Amino acid sequence: MVLPAKDVGLQEAARLLREGRLVAFPTETVYGLGGLASHPESVHAIFAAKGRPATDPLILHLPEPDLFKAETEGWVAGPIPEPARLLAEAFWPGPLTLILRRGPKTLKDMTAGLDTVAVRCPAHPVARKLLQLVGAPLAAPSANRFGRISPTDAEAVRQELEGKIPLVLDGGPCGIGLESTVVNLISSPPEILRPGAITREQITQAIGQTPAIRSDAKPKERAQTSPGQLASHYAPTTSLYLCDAPIRRAAPDTFHILFRKDCTERIDPGYTLESGKNLESAARELYRALRSADASGQKKILVEPVPDGSWAEAIRDRLTRASSGTASWDGAAWKIMLRSAA
Ligand code: TXA
Ligand code: MG
Repeated sequence: MVLPAKDVGLQEAARLLREGRLVAFPTETVYGLGGLASHPESVHAIFAAKGRPATDPLILHLPEPDLFKAETEGWVAGPIPEPARLLAEAFWPGPLTLILRRGPKTLKDMTAGLDTVAVRCPAHPVARKLLQLVGAPLAAPSANRFGRISPTDAEAVRQELEGKIPLVLDGGPCGIGLESTVVNLISSPPEILRPGAITREQITQAIGQTPAIRSDAKPKERAQTSPGQLASHYAPTTSLYLCDAPIRRAAPDTFHILFRKDCTERIDPGYTLESGKNLESAARELYRALRSADASGQKKILVEPVPDGSWAEAIRDRLTRASSGTASWDGAAWKIMLRSAA
């Protein structure tokens, strides 16, 4: 069932969650699939509904932007590193996830057996209201089936999880459209595991040191030390290739994703993402473009190079993970090169 995220829907959602059932709800990044973090059956049901392997840990969503409360209540273990305090102060509630030591209250099944836990306090008013009504943290991954594109509106959630969960709260399209920035605070300096709306520059400014970037590490090493950061992820079902040059005309059997200053420029079938002053609107629409590509029934997706801008790192990260390889223009056609499974 889909209900608008108004009073009745919120009350029903809180009731279901307190009973141990699952509810999909909007956050400022993407829609989440929530369950009570303290309830083992809810946590197991999340993995089952998503078809997510038990080795891939979930994010703990806090009702309050208060790390020290989370420590006192036993969700995270102290001492809380100073950079974590600074980041929470600067960006919570908001699209930033911190990896900290797991406290005794956080279930090991939620963290895939790790001694660390991912925590964030979302900023979306519906998410905050829901967390406050429930009065306890929720475990909430993105509300998609495993390995697929995160949903950025209620209809996309319905398509992903229809029949598997009792309720989707519809709070309209997500404002950011890409998952939160994930920062590991166990390592020193802190390390960005997943780029997002909170940029490297913003993090540097808040903590007074430059964070390391995990995507510089080799894919194999990455998968071992950070589950869920697999090279292939967030993928449409249609094969996607990253072009080495702008797309000038339609290619056969292809869905064309363009980055243009003027969105009236388009190549059909395709989707033009706006790359005006910054890439904020392109980030917001990226997953919608990938869903349209799947729905178009074309054999492949070609994506133009992502122009520079403050959101470029996060967009390139998601597109690289969604891609099967690259495409280079040989003067007459696009030559496809499959990515080697490193
Ligand atoms: O924006 C978001 O973060 C959304 C909304 C719903 O809050 N949630 C989300 O959750 O994207 P999910 O489960 O799809 O992605 C969580 C990411 C995964 O890449 C996971 O591996 C990583 O966080 N993660 C979780 N716990 C971790 C841990 N203890 N150590 C390292 N990475 C962790
Ligand atoms: Mg996800």
